[in-house]
Amino acid sequence: MRKIDREAFLYEVLGNEQLPAHLARTVIEEKLRSAILDGRLPSGTALRQQELATLFGVSRMPVREALRQLEAQSLVRVQLHKGAVVAPLITEDAVDAYALRILFESEALRLSIPLLDAEDYALARQCIEKLEIETDYSRIGTLNRMFHMALYAKTPNKRLMRLVEAGLNEEERFLRFNLSAMGLGKLVQDDHWQLLRLAEAREIDATVEALHNHLNRAVNAITRYLASKAAETRPRRQRKQGTVDA
Ligand code: NI
Repeated sequence: MRKIDREAFLYEVLGNEQLPAHLARTVIEEKLRSAILDGRLPSGTALRQQELATLFGVSRMPVREALRQLEAQSLVRVQLHKGAVVAPLITEDAVDAYALRILFESEALRLSIPLLDAEDYALARQCIEKLEIETDYSRIGTLNRMFHMALYAKTPNKRLMRLVEAGLNEEERFLRFNLSAMGLGKLVQDDHWQLLRLAEAREIDATVEALHNHLNRAVNAITRYLASKAAETRPRRQRKQGTVDA
């Protein structure tokens, strides 16, 4: 995208509210986060520090800080020569991404469950109840993330929590764009109720096992979905060969 087009695009998506210095980092981070999550800023969009600083009438420092926060949440990736760009959605590395999530989230559950209180369980329950009736795919992604976060809420290891949050953010973005085509749904809700029931009973090993099943179900669905999409877009001649190979 040419510089002038990119500036016009950023203005359209983010506005150009002139920000007081003390709020700049937080507001810029929030604006970018919501635009990335709802797809207004698609994967691969370049986020140049100077352009954003000019847009909001601030120095580069708060912009750099905001981008760093978003990078820690896996929403932004820093590429050599290109600088910060909006991170890609989970794609062919979905299996690896979920394998790591299983590690991090199992540990987070183990640390959190003994410390969870009635308020945490109530929040988790509310999220599942809302998921039962929600039809908006972007809200479903958010509620799913909030449900899982409620069960990890008491994890005392802050670094671990940042990794957990990054994984959940990544999944939320993916679900937002693809959930309608993936045919998860009822099965996933059964998992959620089971996770809550086991966590409330403080059955740590059983909760962790239920989480493994839940995340494996998701990774299987994503893998199947991506494979079917790849088959759709492959040229016909290749597809024929592909079928023979398979
Ligand atoms: Ni879930």
